[in-house]
Amino acid sequence: MSPKKKESNLDSSSDTKSVKKSVKATSITDLPGIGPSTAAKLVEAGYSSLESIATVSVGELSSIASLGEKTVQKIIEAAREALDIDFETAKVVLERRKNLAKITTGSQRLDELFGGGIETGAATELYGEFRTGKTQIAHQLCVTTQLPVENGGLRIGDEYPKVVYVDTEGTFRPERIIDMAERWKDNIDVDIVLENILHGRAHNTDHQMVLVEKMVKEYLPTENVKLLVVDSLISHFRAEYVGRGTLATRQQKLNQHIHAILHAAEVWKLAVILTNQVQAKPDQFFGDPTTAVGGHIVAHAAQTRVYLRKSKGERRIARIVDSPLLPENEAIFGVTAAGIVDVT
Ligand SMILES: Nc1ncnc2c1ncn2[C@@H]1O[C@H](COP(=O)(O)OP(=O)(O)O)[C@@H](O)[C@H]1O
Ligand SMILES: [Mg+2]
Repeated sequence: MSPKKKESNLDSSSDTKSVKKSVKATSITDLPGIGPSTAAKLVEAGYSSLESIATVSVGELSSIASLGEKTVQKIIEAAREALDIDFETAKVVLERRKNLAKITTGSQRLDELFGGGIETGAATELYGEFRTGKTQIAHQLCVTTQLPVENGGLRIGDEYPKVVYVDTEGTFRPERIIDMAERWKDNIDVDIVLENILHGRAHNTDHQMVLVEKMVKEYLPTENVKLLVVDSLISHFRAEYVGRGTLATRQQKLNQHIHAILHAAEVWKLAVILTNQVQAKPDQFFGDPTTAVGGHIVAHAAQTRVYLRKSKGERRIARIVDSPLLPENEAIFGVTAAGIVDVT
């Protein structure tokens, strides 16, 4: 952007009261009250789109932009106006949900359990004990997201979608991606699939949060990212904040991290997979074993929560635990060398 353009924005920001917006904003720099330095601060903080401004809270924007609440309120209102944010009828919502893209898991039964596949624009939490298939499902989705729409993926024409994989446990294996892509070799180019997976290894909570911020700032606005995997969401948080005195800090940071993820999911229509390793309590046959680990912040992070457990051999059982839409059903699937499959 040229300095001249920035100047003109500064001018318009100085008399927002007298200027009645006749033309709707098409970018954040068109919003009243946003001059070049404010715009730079917002972009830096990941608020580069009108959508992100329209959905941010007054308090948050005010602290990021170092602007008064009244000014910030106007900025948010202008962004909402530009995007026509208003109520809509349930019929319209239904129509849009019908068109909502879903990603196949590789298992038809699992897809049916999920109401047709993994939803975009929302987060799905996979939780369960060690070796229940959380990482394998995440790997499988890295592949299937890139399938053509007619095969259960999100690829339209030749434009392969991208995947961001935040790996906190060091368990990402490109070799498994190759194995799992083999099944669809007629519909997918394995080399391109590998090229489109952006892998970030997070060694601690700060690193993990920075990776998500980097995705929001640098990749979402420019790349066709359709899936974010965070495997696993809270292991570092659990390890780093152990003492009682640090629990509030942990919850606060985790909350901030989850908020950034969910915001990105909604604004950019990403599918988000969050994994969470838990230990089943021997004294708790049914019920929710995650409470012991992440506290309720995690319990409310994802729109859909899926509890995974082992069965015989390669068999695994998935149970929908908490969904705004789906019944509490179960499905059996297989974790095999070729990936996630139906088993008889
Ligand atoms: N190459 C493979 N061939 C067959 N099964 C595999 C292969 N790699 C992993 N698995 C299966 O996946 C399981 C591990 O699942 P994973 O998703 O890593 O567990 P977690 O839930 O801890 O993330 C293994 O126990 C094994 O059953
Ligand atoms: Mg794992």
